[in-house]
Amino acid sequence: MTCNVIILAAGQGTRMRSTLPKVLHQLADKSLLEHVYATASALEPVQLNIVYGHGGEIVQHTLTDLVANWIEQPEQLGTGHAVAQALPFIKDDETVLILYGDVPLVRKDTLQALLGQVAATSMGLLTIELVDPAGYGRIVRDSLGKVVRIVEHKDASEDERLIKEVNTGMLAVRGKQLKNWLGRLGNDNAQGEYYLTDIIGMAVSDGIEVRTVQANNSYEVEGVNDRLQLARLERYYQMMKADDLMRAGVSLRDPARIDIRGELECGQDVQIDINVIIEGQVRLGDKVKIGPNVVLKDCLIGDGTHIEANCVIEEAEVGAHCAVGPFARLRPGARLADRSRVGNFVEVKNSTIGEGSKVNHLSYIGDATLGKGVNIGAGTITCNYDGANKHQTVIGDNAFVGSCSQLVAPVEIGKNATIGAGSTISKDVPADGLTLSRSPQKTLKNWQRPTKTKE
Ligand code: UD1
Ligand code: CA
Repeated sequence: MTCNVIILAAGQGTRMRSTLPKVLHQLADKSLLEHVYATASALEPVQLNIVYGHGGEIVQHTLTDLVANWIEQPEQLGTGHAVAQALPFIKDDETVLILYGDVPLVRKDTLQALLGQVAATSMGLLTIELVDPAGYGRIVRDSLGKVVRIVEHKDASEDERLIKEVNTGMLAVRGKQLKNWLGRLGNDNAQGEYYLTDIIGMAVSDGIEVRTVQANNSYEVEGVNDRLQLARLERYYQMMKADDLMRAGVSLRDPARIDIRGELECGQDVQIDINVIIEGQVRLGDKVKIGPNVVLKDCLIGDGTHIEANCVIEEAEVGAHCAVGPFARLRPGARLADRSRVGNFVEVKNSTIGEGSKVNHLSYIGDATLGKGVNIGAGTITCNYDGANKHQTVIGDNAFVGSCSQLVAPVEIGKNATIGAGSTISKDVPADGLTLSRSPQKTLKNWQRPTKTKE
């Protein structure tokens, strides 16, 4: 069913105590508004309208990827007034879905159920029962259980305040009816605002049945007003992600200590230790093991590979049966072929490490191409940058580079070449043989250590 969506995002969010508009605050990988937008987009609406407040242009300028009709609500005169700003863009025969930019975790299937309540003589209202309903609009029903109106907390009587079923704010209704009711709204109430909720009473008087849908849980309809609520929703969201992973067969040593800020796809029997952060698009093959405190961003890790503790891997591809870390950093463009090893305190950037090659200790490999079976000794550095430009280092299959060598790029090292430890290699090295650039070692036999001068 097609719908036209209105997202209310004009709130100032003063309780966030932030210079950033509330809907731009992040939950997992996206701003609050982007979460709502993504869910709404999944419904394939004919149009998506976002109502922003005075000074809220920054929202529009920040979220330039959103395909939306941005509408300014110059003054915040209430939720009914906010929706009214979008009416010129709504057709009579369309179903309108009203959402909130600061209620990020509402689910697509809940919204579909809500839209399913809309017909010529009925509308949909999303409600929830809360143990503590204070502050919310209450759903007033008649003796037959039919919704008759919503009363805002501040306007409610003692008895009405006992009602536990509350308005989430989200509703779905035909465009024609919405226009009619909003045109008749007044602001004679405790807050002097144009309440969207007053349309419920009007609907009932006009013979339109208000059909409610109950949200699955309170997190789904909970709004963010301060950073405590934001953090609580973040935890809930992460728990859901962790549950999904475990149901799909991933082992998490502690589901409370993983953060998915992107998309994680896993093969079979993947094990993930604590404090792992996933960002962007990450794919882990079968039997991959991720150690504690690892950050993985936009990367592919092949079958059977182990990433040891404290690695940071970004925009990199690691083949099958590799060993990485602990304390390794794979930067953008790092490609490790199958069975290669990158050990502790090694940084690899924009380089290919060939099959079975090893860079095990304290090295920097930048803008380099290593063949198969290469061994890079501890402390070896590719000097890829001359202060102005980056240059390439090419190392042939089975080359052995002794510890603490500097490879001054551009430079090429032939297959099977051996480079003596401590060499500074600034010219191409032929295949095979030993190449070293080291000043000869000498000993001064009669040399005396200096002694302290007496005062
Ligand atoms: C509203 C509902 C209440 C419901 C509660 C759920 C009304 C009158 N009341 O109350 O029944 O239980 O939400 O959280 O609708 N907004 C604008 N422009 C405005 C006013 C508000 O865009 O002029 C936006 C806010 O940014 C916010 C949302 O509408 O995202 C709700 O506004 P808020 O003032 O928080 O309404 P509540 O008083 O909480
Ligand atoms: Ca609110």
